[in-house]
Formats: sequence, C-alpha cells, structure tokens
Amino acid sequence: MKEALDRLVEKLDGLAPTAALVLGSGLGVLVDQVEDARRISYTELPSFPRSGVSGHAGEVVAGHFAGTQVLMLSGRAHYYEHGNAAAMRPALEVLAGIGISHLILTNAAGSVDPEMGPGSVMMITDHINFSGSNPLIGEPSDRRFVGLTEAYDASLRRAIEKAAKATGTALHQGVYMWFSGPCFETPAEIRMARVMGANAVGMSTVPEVILARFLGLKVAACSVITNLAAGMTGAELSHQETKDMAPVGGARLATILRRVFEEGLPES
Ligand code: HPA
Repeated sequence: MKEALDRLVEKLDGLAPTAALVLGSGLGVLVDQVEDARRISYTELPSFPRSGVSGHAGEVVAGHFAGTQVLMLSGRAHYYEHGNAAAMRPALEVLAGIGISHLILTNAAGSVDPEMGPGSVMMITDHINFSGSNPLIGEPSDRRFVGLTEAYDASLRRAIEKAAKATGTALHQGVYMWFSGPCFETPAEIRMARVMGANAVGMSTVPEVILARFLGLKVAACSVITNLAAGMTGAELSHQETKDMAPVGGARLATILRRVFEEGLPES
C-alpha cells in the first residue's frame, strides 16, 4: 500500500484533492470533464484492482473538475469477480492516505419502482446488504464494528439535492439493495426487494460504503438507473443494456455533480 501511495502522490504532481469519485459502468464519461488531467492506470499502482469487467477502465484520473481538485477512480472491483468483498480496500486506503476526506460513489442500477425508469438518477439514502458478505470480515481490530446509522453523509446529501434543484435535474432518492451478482436477479427476488424496502438493486457500491466509513471518509452515492428490474417489463436484462443506458442518466448525474463541485463540498 505504501508503494501505491508514494507512486500516486508522485503522479499527482502537486495536486492534493480532498474529494474522490468512483465511477461505475458507463459513467467513465465524467473523466472527460476533468481539466489538467493526470491519468494513472491501475496497473501502475500495486494493490489497485485489476478489473476485468467491460465498461470499467481501470485508471485514476485526477485534475480539476468544476474548479475543484478531484480524483476519479474510473473502474472498480466487484465482489462477484473473485468473491472478495474487500477488493476495493487497498485503493480506498490509498485515497484516505493521500488526504481524501469525501467520497462520492456512482453505479448503474436496476429500478424496482416503475415510476423511476431508465435514465433516472437516484441518490442513495440508505442500503440493504443482501449479498451475505461484508468487506470487514477478517478485520481483527474493534474498528470493524462500524456504525452505519448515518452511512450516507447528511450534508453531502443536502449538497447533491441542492445541486439537482439548482440545475433543474430530476433526482430520485431511495434505498439501494446490494445483490452479489454477477447474474441479474429473478422476478421473485425483485418482488422481495420491493417488499423489503428497496428502490434500486445493484452489484456494487455497498462494500465501498462500508470500507469508506471504516476509514472515516464522508460518503455519498448515486445510482444511474439503466433498466427496470427483472420481471418488470418482460424483457431479459443484459450487461450491454447497462453499458448502453448508463450514459443517459450519467449525463444527468454529471450535471448535478458539476454543480456540487462548483458550489464547493460541505465541510462537515
Ligand atoms: N440488477 C443488478 N445490477 C444492475 C441492474 C439490475 O437490474 N442494472 C444495472 N446493474
């Protein structure tokens, strides 16, 4: 981890961002909006994930976004790739180590709510970990008992809500349910998810939220809805649809996030 941290600091060449974004499937377009970009492939950073999922680039892009220094992780490791829920732990530890204090996670997700169709953006207010796993399993210290009552930072959420209003961008809010994947859910699982209080379902983000809270980072997360969940339309789901549809909501999310950074991230 020390080697990755030193190499990243060297590559940042004087930049000292305090905010980071993790970009999900099809959301890599955000990196094109980074000015003065330093790009560092994950392969140059020991312990960073080697993501094998198409639609995930696997690079750090740091620079200025809406006038603010920011670091973007384009590409993430998923639990379903190797069965390791803590796959993002080294990368997030490096971010904490270079002084990142605010983390905004993004993902592509399926909607459980017929009123929240493809192209919608949903800010995650809370989550349900339905994967059966946890990235802190094996962590020996008492720090593993992380409280998640306020996992999604209230002031960051307010900032995102305000930015959506100011830009006239529709923003849904709801609960994200983490399924392990990699297969999509069944219609019965989606009916269960709805009864249990989920608004969207997906295969990522939750382990990163848990790890980020473990590391003391403030967290917010937004889903870009790429499809109505299994059984809701009669059509079969596919990763291609996720990749094709993510940029639609992704453009909306980019508008919101740009405004958040223009306004400046909240201190507390
Ligand atoms: N289910 C799980 N993950 C997803 C979906 C979905 O319907 N759409 C995009 N990611």
